Amino acid sequence: MTALRIVLTGACGGVGRAMAIGFAEAGHNLVLVGRKAESLSALRDGLPRPRSHRYIVTDLLTEESVSELCAEIADGPAIDVLVNNAGISMFGLFTEADDKEMQRSLQLNLLVPMRLTKALMPLLLDSQHGAVINIGSGFGSIGFAGFSVYCASKFGLRGFTEALQREYANTHLCVHYLAPRAVNTAMNSASIVAMNDELGNKVDEPELVARAALDLLRCKKSRNRYLGWPERFFVSLNALFPSVVSGALKKQLAVILRYARN
Ligand SMILES: NC(=O)c1ccc[n+]([C@@H]2O[C@H](COP(=O)([O-])OP(=O)(O)OC[C@H]3O[C@@H](n4cnc5c(N)ncnc54)[C@H](OP(=O)(O)O)[C@@H]3O)[C@@H](O)[C@H]2O)c1
Repeated sequence: MTALRIVLTGACGGVGRAMAIGFAEAGHNLVLVGRKAESLSALRDGLPRPRSHRYIVTDLLTEESVSELCAEIADGPAIDVLVNNAGISMFGLFTEADDKEMQRSLQLNLLVPMRLTKALMPLLLDSQHGAVINIGSGFGSIGFAGFSVYCASKFGLRGFTEALQREYANTHLCVHYLAPRAVNTAMNSASIVAMNDELGNKVDEPELVARAALDLLRCKKSRNRYLGWPERFFVSLNALFPSVVSGALKKQLAVILRYARN
């Protein structure tokens, strides 16, 4: 496969790190984006061919960060792929959600990917292998109690991806949506881990998500990938018969609310 230059946000997180390793081992060259220089530098130095990769330190929630990041990317070698992976979770009762935290979630999970995609679009369209991979979630298709804000952000990201897939259908640009189920990373607080355990929700390792992302890089058409069974089935069921899924989730509500109240 052609060596691609891939911009990866959230590179030092659980899923991001697994993707960085998987992409680099497959021969791709990376622009690692994160908030901590030391972690980014250590990650880069541990990858195969470290000198082929660069990193950019930025907090994507600060004013001007997206435009400055894109200007820095545009100053470097040509890019082929943008992976919008940086994200934050938010778990709890909706009426207790902090307004600022709500705004940060929607900003990082939805608006930042949209702004990055827009600013980098000319570069992505210049590449014969141009692609965007948006890291969504099963919660981007199934509204889940306790995750109303996170669901809103990921439903938005899925809608954005679908619209973009259709807007660019006449071009060679691929716009992929990759939706993991629960993943074993620091994103999930102790109470989310305990709740998943009690509900019997399966949890994947980040390497599985990384392998799925690598598969998407080989696709010549835009794709939507939902990871995990039966979660994948529930996504389709929820689209066709939401009341069936509502009934099943209602049986879990007492457990979910107990954790959400904490
Ligand atoms: N874990 C799950 O159960 C799960 C399930 C489905 C989907 N996902 C999605 O997978 C993606 C990766 O999540 P993860 O599980 O790998 O979580 P994670 O380990 O917490 O990593 C999140 C990443 O986002 C970055 N980030 C957070 N705030 C940022 C900011 N203000 N500016 C720049 N970067 C920021 C973090 O950067 P730093 O390294 O600088 O902290 C970190 O690298 C997310 O989009 C998430 O929604 C996760």
